[in-house]
Amino acid sequence: MSSSDDIARVRETLLSRYEGLETKADILKSPELKELLAGIRDVEPSERSAYGQAVNALQQELKEKVLSNMHEKSALPSIDVTAPFDINGEKPSLLPSENGTTHPLTQEIATLSDIFYRMGYVVEESREIDDQYHMFEALNFPKGHPARDDYDTFMTVEKDSEGEPFVAPAHTSTMQNRILKKYHANLEKGEAIAAIVPDRVFRNEDLDARHEHTFYQVEGVYVAKGVHAGMLIATLQQFLQEYYGKELEVRVNPFYFPFTEPSFEFALSCPFCEGNDSSCKVCGGEGWVELLGCGMIHPNVLKAADIDPNEYTGFAFGCGIDRLVMMKYQIEDVRHFESAKLDFLRQF
Ligand code: DAH
Repeated sequence: MSSSDDIARVRETLLSRYEGLETKADILKSPELKELLAGIRDVEPSERSAYGQAVNALQQELKEKVLSNMHEKSALPSIDVTAPFDINGEKPSLLPSENGTTHPLTQEIATLSDIFYRMGYVVEESREIDDQYHMFEALNFPKGHPARDDYDTFMTVEKDSEGEPFVAPAHTSTMQNRILKKYHANLEKGEAIAAIVPDRVFRNEDLDARHEHTFYQVEGVYVAKGVHAGMLIATLQQFLQEYYGKELEVRVNPFYFPFTEPSFEFALSCPFCEGNDSSCKVCGGEGWVELLGCGMIHPNVLKAADIDPNEYTGFAFGCGIDRLVMMKYQIEDVRHFESAKLDFLRQF
């Protein structure tokens, strides 16, 4: 046996025998293969090299078949403990880890919660379904109040015991009444009620680069004896400076919310361009960014939680977290956050 036809014939024979073998490695001990290997030395010197290579190739093919069969059979793939870091069996690379990371909003919520925690605030959670009492009535929006329409609130088809639909909270202020009641005892001990609620809210809005149907707010509530608007402004200024890591100017304009009196809209000198770039993407060149609503808690809101407004006063604020984070990292479109785009998420 010394021609390439012989090799092809032996190959056919061995491959068909292979299937029936109990111990696949026995194929490598086949007499036909040994004969081919032994025959190499008898081939004409001019053809020996090509012939030898062809026989070796067949032997190699059979070895690989045997090996891959062994891998398939073993329960666990063999592990080369000396190999460099490897992801899902792909070639090792210098890419960052493919493990999941924390969502940027989750990271920023942890950061801002930490700032308020250090200022003495407890951190509470909101909920994803609520009732109209907490969304409106407890916040001094009686039935039929026109400001209810400002909140584009999603409502359920199902009705509660009073025949009212449930709501997907359109702001974190829905938690104010619960917080005031939960921490009422602080006041009797001479301590303040101080809580924040960073959580998700929902609005039936037209979507664009600045509006999402699902977004995040952080609510703040502070009640004690002798609380005044100066304390509100100082608190927010302190928070924002810590969050952005620099001194910033604030601008306070009068506004209207049913649950605060007086109410303010709070603008911040642009943390990005600080008013020095007329084409700034973050502030549109104005140098100021409207950031949050706030005010002194309305006496009716305190009364709804059995707090005497003649004895105690407080402030509250509600700030869009998405907007806060967009300004920090100059993110131009709010929809990125909920888009599940890995290119975006991997940057955080
Ligand atoms: N809940 C308001 C909104 O979503 C924001 C807000 C304004 C919250 C004033 C407050 C506040 O606590 O005092 O538009």
